[in-house]
Amino acid sequence: MKVNDLIFKELLRRGYSLEGNTRVWNIADSKLWYLEEEQAKAYLNIDSVKGKKGSTHKEFQLIKKHVGEISQKVLNGSGINIIDIGCGDGLKAIPCIDALAKQAPVRYCPIDISSYMVTEAIKNIREAEKREVIEFRWNISDFDNLENISALLRDDKFRKNFFLFLGGTVNNFELHEVMHEIAEAMDGDIDSLLIGMGLKTDNDEAVAKRFGEDIHNNFLGQILTQIGFKEDELEFGTRLKNSRIESYYTVKKDKKVILGDKFIAFYKGDQILVATIRRYSKEEFEEAMRIYFSEVEFFPQEDGSRALVLCKK
Ligand SMILES: C[S@@+](CC[C@H](N)C(=O)[O-])C[C@H]1O[C@@H](n2cnc3c(N)ncnc32)[C@H](O)[C@@H]1O
Repeated sequence: MKVNDLIFKELLRRGYSLEGNTRVWNIADSKLWYLEEEQAKAYLNIDSVKGKKGSTHKEFQLIKKHVGEISQKVLNGSGINIIDIGCGDGLKAIPCIDALAKQAPVRYCPIDISSYMVTEAIKNIREAEKREVIEFRWNISDFDNLENISALLRDDKFRKNFFLFLGGTVNNFELHEVMHEIAEAMDGDIDSLLIGMGLKTDNDEAVAKRFGEDIHNNFLGQILTQIGFKEDELEFGTRLKNSRIESYYTVKKDKKVILGDKFIAFYKGDQILVATIRRYSKEEFEEAMRIYFSEVEFFPQEDGSRALVLCKK
């Protein structure tokens, strides 16, 4: 079995920390979730606009409800580039493109670490909208390159960039790290950002439980099977800790993972943390966004569990 280099290196680089007597290996980084096509497909199987259920579908409804008002606030007459940060299958961009294109020329630019997602998004936008899609070397990219991408796309006809950061991707990141990257890429006078995210609710325990379902195991378990673990050597679990939902695997028996001349020895009882979701209250998130933006407007879902947030510098 070929051991995935990147995942192995992340484990080596980060090592483990001790929590009581338990060794906890923390590789909770969403860039490891979508490395292979099968992982991207497993994600879309959990959450997709097409699935007509789940948080993605709810967010899609929220977009459709508010996109008319949002597009009025985003437009200023010139052509507009929609930069879809972590585009996934791109389907949520469709109502945005629709609304904006009624009033200005629109180009769509998907950015994602997963080539499968980028291909899906390009296909979906072309099929639905027949809009201009920007294909260039930066489509398959980390978020570190946003400033570069933003400048490359701005020209006389398309001066304005409208960033989409949807699907609760913000909940999986170190907030200030990712917001700094995005804000740096935005032109203060003309650009806008639309965030779609999960908000903290009174029933976060129940939400954590839902993240422990098999469908999430099928998605996240692939990180560890790519370094040689077998499914029955691991036990999947979720917990609510320090306002974060954590997904982790407990190693059921000692295991040595070897790559070249290096190895990692896991012991029975070790925990491998693979995902964290941090949900904020509206007030907490607004306070954090005020560091980067002068305008922060919420479009909440009725039950308060999600919101769209429109931000301008
Ligand atoms: C939670 S999904 C959201 C997808 C889509 N925006 C939606 O709302 O349906 C997160 C997306 O971001 C991408 N992604 C995650 N971490 C990334 C990173 N570090 N750099 C670039 N893309 C990343 C994933 O491949 C995935 O498509």
